[in-house]
Amino acid sequence: MLTFIFRVLLVLAIVLAWSSGSPQNSMAQDTTIQLPAPEKTGGMPLNEALASRASNRSFSPQALDDKDLSQILWSAFGVTRDDGKRTIPTARDRKELAVYAVLTTGVYLYNAENNTLTLALEGDFTKKYANSPLTLLYAAPDNKFGALHAGSAYQSVGLYCASANLANVVKTTGADELKGQLKLPDDYQVLVVQSIGHKG
Ligand SMILES: Cc1cc2nc3c(=O)[nH]c(=O)nc-3n(C[C@H](O)[C@H](O)[C@H](O)COP(=O)(O)O)c2cc1C
Repeated sequence: MLTFIFRVLLVLAIVLAWSSGSPQNSMAQDTTIQLPAPEKTGGMPLNEALASRASNRSFSPQALDDKDLSQILWSAFGVTRDDGKRTIPTARDRKELAVYAVLTTGVYLYNAENNTLTLALEGDFTKKYANSPLTLLYAAPDNKFGALHAGSAYQSVGLYCASANLANVVKTTGADELKGQLKLPDDYQVLVVQSIGHKG
């Protein structure tokens, strides 16, 4: 009897050890990307960035590195102060904007507080967005402030792109490309998208 109980316990221990290292668990870790801390100094002088901001519609297939990715997302909606306030102002300080990054590995939600990306939708959807290696989707609630917040964010990113000599274009065409597939917070909708990459 004791041998039987021992065998059952041994099997249970093996199953538990296997499941804690199973692909499902390692997937859970891979669904979060930790970005490097954004650089808060340097870059092109503001007047030069304003003078050179422009839309570009041709992208190199070369992926952006994590440093650029971090800087772009921080420009869009990153934290700038200890109280959690952002690179852009938001009405009533309610921070009602969700920024998603479409990468070849999936669509990720930007979490500004910890500077991470969390997988929101698996799959490569970059071909829906002119094959640019990065497209930001700006989603906001359906109220009078949403488009204003998205506009502030894409202008910040446009200026960063000018400063870093990257291509970018803002489009309302394509805002509905992932409708029904990308689960958004209640009342949120994608208002506008911004494709970004090295110049093609
Ligand atoms: C809200 C908004 C929506 C836009 N939608 C599109 C679009 O659907 N397709 C497109 O090719 N360009 C789109 N654009 C880019 C504009 O055509 C572009 O900004 C304009 O031609 C001025 O050029 P510039 O950005 O180089 O100054 C959009 C720009 C904004 C701000």
